[in-house]
Amino acid sequence: MKTISNGFYRFLQYFSAFIVVTVLGGCNLDTRMSTFVTKGPIAEEQLNLFMLTVWVTFAIFIIVGGVFVYAVIKFRERPNDDRPMPSQGHGNPLVEIGLIGASILLLAVIAVPTLQAIWFTQETPDDVESRMGAWYSGEELAEEEAENPLIIKVIGYQWWWAFEYPQLGITTANEMVIPAGKVVHLELRSVDVIHSFWLPRIAGKVDLIPGRTNAMWIQAGDNFAKWKEKQGIVGPDQDSPELREGYASYLQEEIHNYYYGQCAEFCGDSHARMLFRATVVGDREFEAWVADEKIGHGTPDGRSWDEWYTAYEENPEQLTGDLNEGLKLFMGRAKCATCHTVKGNPRAVGVAGPNLTNVGARLSIAAGWLNHRAEDGGIDTEQQYENFFNWLKETDVIKPGNLMWEANGGGIGELIDEHGEPALLTDEEINKLSLYLQSLK
Ligand code: CUA
Repeated sequence: MKTISNGFYRFLQYFSAFIVVTVLGGCNLDTRMSTFVTKGPIAEEQLNLFMLTVWVTFAIFIIVGGVFVYAVIKFRERPNDDRPMPSQGHGNPLVEIGLIGASILLLAVIAVPTLQAIWFTQETPDDVESRMGAWYSGEELAEEEAENPLIIKVIGYQWWWAFEYPQLGITTANEMVIPAGKVVHLELRSVDVIHSFWLPRIAGKVDLIPGRTNAMWIQAGDNFAKWKEKQGIVGPDQDSPELREGYASYLQEEIHNYYYGQCAEFCGDSHARMLFRATVVGDREFEAWVADEKIGHGTPDGRSWDEWYTAYEENPEQLTGDLNEGLKLFMGRAKCATCHTVKGNPRAVGVAGPNLTNVGARLSIAAGWLNHRAEDGGIDTEQQYENFFNWLKETDVIKPGNLMWEANGGGIGELIDEHGEPALLTDEEINKLSLYLQSLK
């Protein structure tokens, strides 16, 4: 008996060590894609629901496991056991009905908050502070749009994201910019296969489906009312410059950040490389960003676009310097403008690929796969250059199966020159093009 019991306790020791190492070993909860450290009401609601379910199921596990372990130990066969065989019953109505009743009760305990959470996450709030008119003071907002929250159309492509801001007339790709503490209404659809929008710290997943538009709302950080509630400041009328200041510094210190998102539905070769970012900024910073996106870019040498194109057509040799060379490639041999828009440039209006307006100001390229965010949150320009260069040179290696490579027949540039020779971009040309793209900021 002694040996069995020792063996059992040793097993328990190993087992608990195994659990601690495997479960807690990966337990840094505060990672950049953690669902446990939430930064917004949707993610918070989802976390609360998850934790409720965890505790309920944990309680069931303890009770059922406890009874099981008790029975195994208490009624196990012992050496020289001469106890009679227990009676072989066929169920006990009281126990069975009791267990069914308990299950129903527990399911109800989970179901009610689940339904509440579904309603909460489905209905975009319509309080006054969430409306764009309440906080947006940039130019050109149509009157009826002021009554809506900020709307972003999220469109999934293999393997990148378009973010359109219909109220503001701008489009960006892979790095969305949203204001802290404000409701953002998302309309999600896909042009090819099913993708899924997942921004872990701010909101859980909603699928992007071809042929239908799904909707969700997100919010980075609490709104003013919720923040006051969490501070224990009661009464809806509580408002003062000091409170507003406290709220503003909460947003500044805890919410303004660069958040990591990921496509969460298998969508082909490079699904794992279909990432995105959300930059959460202050209201004024958001307005400045919008204004910048609307203006877009001029020519590298300061001529008007008309003058530049006249020179380009008449005698491109006169357009000198790395950036002009890069732009010439962008418009010509590399065929970039066929698929990409660069706001400002009247002839770069392609829509098949990501919008490249201010691409040089983004902290990653290739849908978040190649990063150049410096420690201080700015741009590591050396890394950025390298990323652009590698991306243009080996697009297919960095993102297998991507359409930029496939549509060009396996490379960037003219495939065959006038002598029938392959004429893909040379390293020198890729260098110029990289420098040009880097200058778009
Ligand atoms: Cu898109 Cu996975």
